[in-house]
Amino acid sequence: MIWGAERVLVTGGAGMLGSQVLLSAPDGTTVIGTDLVEAGGVTAVGVDLAEAEQVAALFAEHGPFTGVIHTAAYTAVDAAEEEEELALRINGQACGCVAAACAEADVPLVAVGTDFVFDGTSRRPYRIEDVPNPLSAYGRTKLAGERAAMEAHPRGTRIVRTQWLYGPRGRHFPGTMRALAAEREELKVVDDQVGSPTSTLELAPALWDVLAAGSAGVYHAACEGSCTWYDLAVAAVEAGLPDGTERARIVPCMSAEFPRPAHRPTYSVLDCSRLTRLRGRSLAPWREALMTFLGDSGEEP
Ligand SMILES: NC(=O)c1ccc[n+]([C@@H]2O[C@H](COP(=O)([O-])OP(=O)(O)OC[C@H]3O[C@@H](n4cnc5c(N)ncnc54)[C@H](OP(=O)(O)O)[C@@H]3O)[C@@H](O)[C@H]2O)c1
Repeated sequence: MIWGAERVLVTGGAGMLGSQVLLSAPDGTTVIGTDLVEAGGVTAVGVDLAEAEQVAALFAEHGPFTGVIHTAAYTAVDAAEEEEELALRINGQACGCVAAACAEADVPLVAVGTDFVFDGTSRRPYRIEDVPNPLSAYGRTKLAGERAAMEAHPRGTRIVRTQWLYGPRGRHFPGTMRALAAEREELKVVDDQVGSPTSTLELAPALWDVLAAGSAGVYHAACEGSCTWYDLAVAAVEAGLPDGTERARIVPCMSAEFPRPAHRPTYSVLDCSRLTRLRGRSLAPWREALMTFLGDSGEEP
């Protein structure tokens, strides 16, 4: 791909990641954002991506596209346990429909995947060739999407699995912890799940690089290093606090104290070496990326 005359479709353009993908498009690239419901000013087109005819019409009316970054998904991890069929329609079927349209147009597809395809039993960072074994409905439906995309468009699909996202748009864990810490005296946060918090400010440019220069197959993409949700809460809450500021006491606890409908992997650190080789650098260390995000977002400590 030679950037400059590109016309790229970004699905889920109003979402946490998709909105950042739209904002970080390379200069000269025309981007068309879509969502299920048209979101004025952010995404121009409302399309149900699980309907093949709607996807075909999108490509016919707003294309020709030279590439697609597919971030749209059903992302309510706990609710998916009760609504697996709906989650499968969006995470599985829609991903397959988008990939089939990309195959027809013979253009590359970057489809965003998740660490939740793994069961968390590994003792080292998950490699792209490790065998998935999802613990939750969300993980199963996202894996179905990976497989549908690879089957529909094997030469052009790049699956980019990521994890623990936060960013300027939408609700996310660091923001929730900062808000709760200002209201409460004590916060209990789970300290037995390990992953890599990843800023959309870091991930979005990497997705563009995979679209432009990657080859088909799976990539892992997360900020460098790892921590627990407790570590992340402490880092997020303490960022920018002058010494002596009153804030909630943050107390580590076990996941068993907060039973949730969906089982989550206890360890889901991703080996991102394929992406690092492609870009010549890794995503920023998670703590540095968090500080950049909190600094840029202008949030009061
Ligand atoms: N958040 C995380 O921590 C995390 C971790 C690992 C992987 N991921 C993956 O990263 C991607 C982005 O996640 P996110 O947190 O940014 O998601 P998000 O904020 O929930 O945004 C999802 C977007 O998908 C759109 N969408 C849903 N159903 C659709 C349909 N049938 N047709 C068209 N558009 C539809 C939504 O549009 P409407 O608002 O109009 O419904 C929304 O804009 C997803 O693939 C997710 O699985 C996320």
